[in-house]
Amino acid sequence: MLLNSVSSTKRWGKAFAPELKPGQLVCLYGPLGAGKTTLVQSIARGLGVEEPVTSPTYALINQYRGRTPVFHLDLYRISGPQEFEQMGGWEALNSSAICFLEWPERLEGELPAVRWDLRLELAGRARRLSVEFQH
Ligand SMILES: Nc1ncnc2c1ncn2[C@@H]1O[C@H](COP(=O)(O)OP(=O)(O)O)[C@@H](O)[C@H]1O
Ligand SMILES: [Mg+2]
Repeated sequence: MLLNSVSSTKRWGKAFAPELKPGQLVCLYGPLGAGKTTLVQSIARGLGVEEPVTSPTYALINQYRGRTPVFHLDLYRISGPQEFEQMGGWEALNSSAICFLEWPERLEGELPAVRWDLRLELAGRARRLSVEFQH
C-alpha cells in the first residue's frame, strides 16, 4: 500500500499494532530514509508505548514498556551475527517482548523463520509498504 505522508504511516502503524502478539518479531527492510524508524514509532504508539521512540542507530538496542515489553534494534552498524549475540540481540528475540529489527539482512541465514516482514520503498515523496507474515 502507499503511505503518502508521515501521518499516513502513523495511522497505519496504530491500526496494525493489535495484530502483534507478545514474543513476535517484526523485520523492517528498506534503504536509509525509507521510513523504518517512523513506522516502528507508529506501531509502538499503538502498543501503548508513551515515551519517545528514538532511532537505535548508535545505541543498537532500545527497550520500551507498552502493553507488552518492546525492543527496537538497528543492525545497520553491526558486522554480523557475532556482534548480534554480544549486543543481547538473541536475548531480546527469545524473550516475550515484541521486537522490531531494522536491517535484518545483517543476520543473514540466522533470522527466525516466524516473523513479520515489513518492506518499505521510496515512491517519490511517499513510501510503498508491503506486509507479509512468515511462518
Ligand atoms: N510515509 C512517509 N511519507 C513521507 N515521508 C516519510 C514517511 N515515513 C517517513 N518519512 C520521512 O522519511 C525520513 C526518514 O525516515 P526514517 O523513519 O528515519 O527512515 P529509516 O529508519 O528507514 O532510515 C524522515 O524524514 C521521515 O519523516
Ligand atoms: Mg532507522
